[in-house]
Amino acid sequence: MLPEYFPVTIQFIYSFKGPLPFDVYIQRFEGKFTKVYNKNSEHDPEQIYRYEDKQITNLYVTQAEKNIYGVFLYKLVEQFNRGAGEVDKEKMIDVIKTSLELTYEKFADQSDDLGMNIQWASQQVTSALMMMEDNMASAIEIFKALSEDKQLLKHSYMVSLFSLVLAKKLGITSQRNLMGIGLGALLHDLGHTRINSELFSKNNLTPKEWDEIKDHPQLALKIVDHTKGITSDIRSILIQHHEQPNGRGYPNRLTNSSIFPPAKIVAIADAFCSFVSKSAYRETVFTTAQALQMMRDDIGHFDPEYLEVFATAVQPKKKVA
Ligand SMILES: [Fe+2]
Ligand SMILES: [Fe+2]
Repeated sequence: MLPEYFPVTIQFIYSFKGPLPFDVYIQRFEGKFTKVYNKNSEHDPEQIYRYEDKQITNLYVTQAEKNIYGVFLYKLVEQFNRGAGEVDKEKMIDVIKTSLELTYEKFADQSDDLGMNIQWASQQVTSALMMMEDNMASAIEIFKALSEDKQLLKHSYMVSLFSLVLAKKLGITSQRNLMGIGLGALLHDLGHTRINSELFSKNNLTPKEWDEIKDHPQLALKIVDHTKGITSDIRSILIQHHEQPNGRGYPNRLTNSSIFPPAKIVAIADAFCSFVSKSAYRETVFTTAQALQMMRDDIGHFDPEYLEVFATAVQPKKKVA
């Protein structure tokens, strides 16, 4: 059973000027929600400040209004889209919807728990995108670059969801850290957009071509160089997501303790998502159990503790007869 309400950050509500097309609730205490804004009425910024003073970070929207909320998000993007050029919004919505549906289809019914966590993670990604709201023009440029390659966008989105599922299981609760992980994971392969796309569908890459691909962490850093909202934590994820605790990763062959923990989280989600989905250069799709086994067998590649925590989150629970 999915929860009836999902959280939306206060900043997100605040950043929208004008009436909201959905009802907004506040959680009074565990499981008890009270409506604070009626749909189509304007929110009161003073009230938002009062909530912030009380350290309230989230407001809530009902699952039933999730689609309306989705459309609202794109309107928000549009609002910030001054000077960012023409955005192929229809295409973007289509791409994201497809990614979402595919993700849910494959995983949501494995266990209620995972379905719920993914649902939660997808809201975090939305909030994470809002982190770049100061500079929405760059955010849209970056997002556009990702959406040009449907496969890449789907991969990025899935890695983001699974990174957040792992982060949650590891007990990370700070909104700022979760947003950093969500956004870092969403942008982890951004550098791919600057690499000749033929390389990603080629079978036998030459060492020189491999080197080109291995440049993508640095390329991603260059792309986000002047983008506000991209914190140093996010930059560390971009540059370190292919590092390995055994020191055999790239680009800097960092060893265990020098790898930024969120980059280790993204590395696990990244490998897992690649194993369980089709890619241009690998037809085989592995099951969750097979993917986890291959990752465990690849000793030294992933943080072993994180990997076990991840396994408990994604493995379907055995049904009690
Ligand atoms: Fe990568
Ligand atoms: Fe990746």
